[in-house]
Amino acid sequence: MRMRRMRDSKFTRNMIRETYLSKNNLIYPIFAVEGKGIRREIPSMPDCYHYSVDRLREEIEELTNLGINYIMIFGVPDYKDEIGSSAYDNNGIVQRAIKEIKKINPHMYVITDVCMCEYTSHGHCGILGHNNEVLNDETLPYLSKIALSHAAAGADMVAPSDMMDFRIESIRKCLDENGYTNVPIMAYSAKYASAFYGPFRDAADSAPKFGDRKSYQMDISNSDEAMREISLDIQEGADIVMVKPALSYLDVIRRAKDNFNIPIAAYNVSGEYSMLKNAVKIGLLNKSAIYESVLSIKRAGADIIITYFAKDIAKILNEVQ
Ligand code: PBG
Repeated sequence: MRMRRMRDSKFTRNMIRETYLSKNNLIYPIFAVEGKGIRREIPSMPDCYHYSVDRLREEIEELTNLGINYIMIFGVPDYKDEIGSSAYDNNGIVQRAIKEIKKINPHMYVITDVCMCEYTSHGHCGILGHNNEVLNDETLPYLSKIALSHAAAGADMVAPSDMMDFRIESIRKCLDENGYTNVPIMAYSAKYASAFYGPFRDAADSAPKFGDRKSYQMDISNSDEAMREISLDIQEGADIVMVKPALSYLDVIRRAKDNFNIPIAAYNVSGEYSMLKNAVKIGLLNKSAIYESVLSIKRAGADIIITYFAKDIAKILNEVQ
């Protein structure tokens, strides 16, 4: 056997290629901010922008022209309180952004991040108890209310990222009772307490004001535990399960793919993005490293990839065609 025989020309290489990226599997995250006339580059995330609702048109049209039809919305509100009430305000930042996007392009598939950390004054993903601990069961009704308000505003899918136990069950029940049986849930199932969320927390102003998220997000050392998280979310009614971050957790993605017959999503997070984007910007790496890096997530077993590189990848795919 000569392995190089099939590498000799692009015809044989193309013939036996195993993994492809497709625009159908890419989700692009968008940050909507309060205010007017804002299109501001996010300092920690080169080429990513904060948009006020009135300027979302530019972003949505660019994505539509590139052939990206899936987005995930994050809201940056101007009002925060202990219970994150602006997260379920029917006139809140995410709710208005959804309606605006649907006006611009009704076919844009809109997924929303369901969490409280951007909306709470303390920056944690739930309701606090007397000793500043994050209360699990007390948080569930709030998460359900947030998911419901997103669905009512026109979200096509909701993605809870808080890591409370039983939130998938609670959100599913609430959506069903209110007539949103066909709104799927993409569960951030195996979400690790990772240092790679740093640039996002600057972008979304969502860093915890004290302590860390280790009592709810997963220990970075564990992989068996990720399988238990995923299997519980499937039992509770998740339609898609997610591993997050992606690149430092490719082993977890592969295990998930081999163990469960359900679509697997992976979140190529802000830290993973900014490191590579900056390396390409200063000429340290060739830009083909971007394709290679996102492709590795697909090869590891992810069916769906949430990535700030979606536009870069779409441009590469459009060139090839
Ligand atoms: C909200 C949330 C976070 C991210 C997605 N949803 C931040 C966090 O958990 O602290 C991170 C995304 C990224 O880093 O790109 N809880």
